[in-house]
Amino acid sequence: MYARLIGTGSCLPGNPVSNDDLAARGIETNDEWIVSRTGIRTRHLAAPGMTSSELGLVAAQRALEMAGLAPSDLDLIIVATSTPDFIFPSTACLIQGKLGNKGAAAFDVQAVCSGFTYALGIAEKFIKSGSHKKALVIGAEVFSRILDWNDRGTCVLFGDGAGAVVLEASDKPGILATAMHADGSQNGILNVPGQVCGGQVTGDPFLRMDGQAVFKFAVRVLADIAEEVCETAGLKTADVDWLIPHQANIRIIEATGKKLGIDREKVIVTVDRHGNTSAASVPLALDEAVRDGRIKKGQRVLVEGVGGGFTWGAALFEF
Ligand code: UT7
Repeated sequence: MYARLIGTGSCLPGNPVSNDDLAARGIETNDEWIVSRTGIRTRHLAAPGMTSSELGLVAAQRALEMAGLAPSDLDLIIVATSTPDFIFPSTACLIQGKLGNKGAAAFDVQAVCSGFTYALGIAEKFIKSGSHKKALVIGAEVFSRILDWNDRGTCVLFGDGAGAVVLEASDKPGILATAMHADGSQNGILNVPGQVCGGQVTGDPFLRMDGQAVFKFAVRVLADIAEEVCETAGLKTADVDWLIPHQANIRIIEATGKKLGIDREKVIVTVDRHGNTSAASVPLALDEAVRDGRIKKGQRVLVEGVGGGFTWGAALFEF
């Protein structure tokens, strides 16, 4: 029994915002710095009031349409997000309500930029166990809400968006291998160290990052976990048709591909147009490459994420 991907969808809010647009808004930065350090040229930013559940809903509807399923067919809904609409109920329950599904299990996963790969691995285990048959897995974020727009070292890096996939139980492959890891001792290098307490925000409600520490950690674990899932599936990295790494920085993506010996042409890149959309980055890139015809039926796709926690996760599947 496999968990097979039968639909993808995504949603980006509003028009692209360029690096020059950010500079024009008063951020002390420039296009040359951002492009040379990160590869990011534009990102999408949600209008005030637009939420992760709204973006996730549209991505979900598009994925369901491609899968040819109705919301009532689903028995599992998992949303990966670090920017939920509320403390509770979960964004998964909010999307379930908007879709009109009743009865499916619905919950959020909090693994920051690895969230989608964690959620995919969890959904695969539910399906493989035989307990659930049709799952919706969403990565949805409005990271612009947790950015300190006075911190030029972080605010230029992120964007908003959502991506989704529909999985179903099948005797045809399917997800071949998944892996998830964390190292909580590294919680200090990327975090939002605030909380709601007694009716007020205490601590710091903005994203903080040690960029260079994150960079080194990311390249190491993204290469390691790609090799791990290939080995679990009895394959070599050369057998992978498409690599979709977390879209944080073109230099991290290129260094990972190089370490794995995977050609540049086999790596899907959206960071130039989306920035880092955290849990949404991988399903956004996947949907783009499925819809533009690059990813074809039967090809092997390796997706991987890395982010705050520190967490990292990957899945290798035959499309
Ligand atoms: O999901 C994981 C998310 N995180 C990441 O992927 C981040 C990984 N890290 C990185 O991508 C890089 O570390 C950054 C792109 C964040 C930073 O690049 P860096 O080469 O490590 O630069 P830096 O932080 O050491 O800063 C170098 C200089 C500093 O100026 P001085 O002190 O040398 O005069 C910064 O103040 O660049 C300056 N700087 C900027 N200049 C223009 C920092 N941010 C900006 C900016 N525009 N936006």
